[in-house]
Amino acid sequence: MTDQRYDRMMVLLHWLLALGLISQLGLGLWMEGIPKEPPGERAAWFNLHKSIGMVLGLFILWRMGWRVTHSVPADLPDTPGWQQTAAKLNHGLMYVFMLALPLSGFLGSSFSQYPVKFFGMPLPRLWEPVPEVKSVLSEVHEFTAFALLALLALHLLAVCWHVAVKRDGLLQRMSWRNSDT
Ligand code: HEM
Ligand code: HEM
Repeated sequence: MTDQRYDRMMVLLHWLLALGLISQLGLGLWMEGIPKEPPGERAAWFNLHKSIGMVLGLFILWRMGWRVTHSVPADLPDTPGWQQTAAKLNHGLMYVFMLALPLSGFLGSSFSQYPVKFFGMPLPRLWEPVPEVKSVLSEVHEFTAFALLALLALHLLAVCWHVAVKRDGLLQRMSWRNSDT
């Protein structure tokens, strides 16, 4: 809890995952509308979604590992306690859902009848398909996606408020240019 900004690894992972997760949320919602006939196209987009999702999952683990082993900036000065608590709660929940998404996606898919393919390469089947488990995990996946979207909306509203109203330099804390390590 020393400096006033995040280190460069956190900055890099934050923006990489922001881009990756927003695109992946969009892809997930869009691909649901692809017709099942003719066969092939829907499966190809689903496989792409699964493959990107697994890569994002690794980045999320890396980010969480980095977060717990490195210091983070001190709380933003001149900010009421309730806002600091709300920010911490929102950030914490975003981490929970960021992790739950690839996990529920991967486990759900590995309980389905379709083998998980990583950029075209079939991965070994971990267990036999269980449709009931698959459908519960699909519900979890869908719920966590919408929950992350809702938290992201709050996150963006808070950033806009800091930038446009408070003008307290919050965005600089997550800026590459201002990071020195
Ligand atoms: C899917 C997209 C995003 C996710 C999941 C996300 C998640 C997070 C999380 C978890 C933190 C807390 C970092 C920590 O202390 O470990 C954070 C901080 C931050 N995010 Fe995002 N973010 C996203 C997109 C954005 C976008 C689009 C912006 C700007 C327009 C933004 C601006 C910031 C800023 C300025 C901070 C630092 C806040 C502070 O110093 O307290 N984020 N983000
Ligand atoms: C890392 C982040 C991920 C995000 C943000 C994400 C997001 C989404 C979203 C928004 C949907 C549409 C929700 C719905 O209406 O059901 C979806 C569906 C789906 N996702 Fe993901 N996903 C991620 C990772 C994964 C992974 C790693 C897999 C599998 C290896 C996966 C497999 C699926 C499948 C099969 C569907 C279709 C619905 C279902 O059968 O559950 N996702 N995803």
